[in-house]
Amino acid sequence: MDRRITNLIITGFSGTGKSLVAMEVALRLNWDFIDTDDEIVKQTGKPIAEIFRQDGETKFRELERGTIRKACQQKQTVIAIGGGAIVDPQNYELLAKAGLIVCLEAKPETIYERLFREAARSPGTEVRPLLAVDNPLERIRQLKASRQPHYAKADWTIHTDGLNVSEVAEEIIRASRLLRHYTPRNDSDKDITCLVETKTQSYPIFVGYGLLDRLGEKMKQAGLYGTAIIISDKNVFPLYGSKVEGILKGAGFAGNSIVVPPGEETKSMDYAIKICDFLVKHRVERDDIIIALGGGMVGDLAGFVAATFLRGMPWVQVPTSLIAMVDASIGGKVGVNHPEGKNLIGAFYQPNLVLADPQTLTTLPKRELASGWAEVIKHGMILDEEFVQFLEGNVSKLTKLEPESLTRAIARSAAIKAQVVSQDEKEREGKRTILNYGHTIAHGLEAATQYKRFLHGEAVAIGMVGAAKLSQRLGLLPVAAVERQQALLQKFGLPTSFSGVDLTEITRAMELDKKTRGKAIRWVLLQDIGKVVISSDVPQRDVLAVLRELAEP
Ligand SMILES: NC(=O)c1ccc[n+]([C@@H]2O[C@H](COP(=O)([O-])OP(=O)(O)OC[C@H]3O[C@@H](n4cnc5c(N)ncnc54)[C@H](O)[C@@H]3O)[C@@H](O)[C@H]2O)c1
Ligand SMILES: [Zn+2]
Repeated sequence: MDRRITNLIITGFSGTGKSLVAMEVALRLNWDFIDTDDEIVKQTGKPIAEIFRQDGETKFRELERGTIRKACQQKQTVIAIGGGAIVDPQNYELLAKAGLIVCLEAKPETIYERLFREAARSPGTEVRPLLAVDNPLERIRQLKASRQPHYAKADWTIHTDGLNVSEVAEEIIRASRLLRHYTPRNDSDKDITCLVETKTQSYPIFVGYGLLDRLGEKMKQAGLYGTAIIISDKNVFPLYGSKVEGILKGAGFAGNSIVVPPGEETKSMDYAIKICDFLVKHRVERDDIIIALGGGMVGDLAGFVAATFLRGMPWVQVPTSLIAMVDASIGGKVGVNHPEGKNLIGAFYQPNLVLADPQTLTTLPKRELASGWAEVIKHGMILDEEFVQFLEGNVSKLTKLEPESLTRAIARSAAIKAQVVSQDEKEREGKRTILNYGHTIAHGLEAATQYKRFLHGEAVAIGMVGAAKLSQRLGLLPVAAVERQQALLQKFGLPTSFSGVDLTEITRAMELDKKTRGKAIRWVLLQDIGKVVISSDVPQRDVLAVLRELAEP
């Protein structure tokens, strides 16, 4: 074995067999063996469950950090770590430097069965806390899902479901030979752009040029198995469908694809039902995976099906439009339109992972691309002045889709959205409201023109100019900032004014759009570039004056 692999670190959920496997590997390599949980038990003289009960999890994690720090000083040692240890960033950093991290995976059902068998074998010993709840399988699913992005940081993942201890040990030794020339550290980790971390779930967002090739690998690292159903539209599927099918097949996923017509009309109950018919016909099961391959329309529709079919299936977002990459694929809002209103039927249902490959934007029509830049610029305007500077300094590279700066811009923009939605998963706490910057006027304009004239981002660009002008009128924002934003929008090919739309139609639509009846519109305004404020106290005459300014004579 190469000298560079100093130690082997074995992580994974409870019941994946870390300890036994690590021991077996150590035996075969003639290396030392450490189990950090055992070390803690030795040191404190108490079983882990008792430490949790008497001293609390914080104390346990502290002991665990100490033990891991010590273990990381070893050489030629196989180190089995506790199932939650890798979640701690300090631990991860140490472990990543100390050796090759291998994650043992297993389906929740397998884990449940193993833990249950283990408990039955040794009656009288303390039942694992995981089993001492009403619905242990559900608890395993939840806890495992919340740790999955951290397990995804491992260098190598082994699915242990059908394997015995010695077969898993063999796989680990094979992996360490394969990765002998592997240079640290840490390609798979570098790809994670950000995490969405809500109270109930967390999942990684990957942004990388050409990353589509590694979709299968990323899905396996996220603990997904089964048959993958690709849902796409007639524009996107001919471009990327067979490529994605091939990638998934190569990674061992069986697959099926359903292709729907492009366009917002498809985001409907009718098509949701058509897709469900297809899933029923193909006997899709609860562990199979929906893959949304396309723009925001496909993402919202496929996500709605994933949320509801069999009461919820795993799903993966592969956004191919700029709007979908930086906005629609992040945050778990899924749904379809009702003839009486857009997005009236829907749910919050987070995907298991999002993988955005900016290379797919090379085929996106120019106007759609510009529309996406409006949301990117919006993210900078509300929260990140430095990012606005980056956009200003790289307009020509970005509009030409130069890979490096394009990827950077998308990654940053996605991270801003992920950060906001993480703080307010279900839009209950008002923190998501800031994402509506530019959207009040935009929705008015879109509705007043029956959603036919403007692409969403075009309306948002005009709405942002309106919101900035309004902020200026109210004495919040200097005129220079208003002009700076306007110039940037124009450089990305976006409109900043409109003509031929009746102003009263716009204000009427704006009134209808506000989420709570009887309340004032909550305006998202700017205090500065990158500094957002919310105000429910904006005089109607100022709004009208701004609309008049936006309307070309
Ligand atoms: N869930 C959310 O939080 C959220 C946020 C924003 C928008 N949305 C929704 O997203 C939708 C708008 O997203 P969109 O602009 O991506 O619309 P879209 O999915 O309709 O895509 C726009 C067009 O580009 C095509 N396309 C997509 N990727 C392509 C590619 N790589 N190459 C060539 N053509 C490609 C599509 O076929 C379509 O014709 C709306 O339904 C909106 O309600 C949802
Ligand atoms: Zn928007």
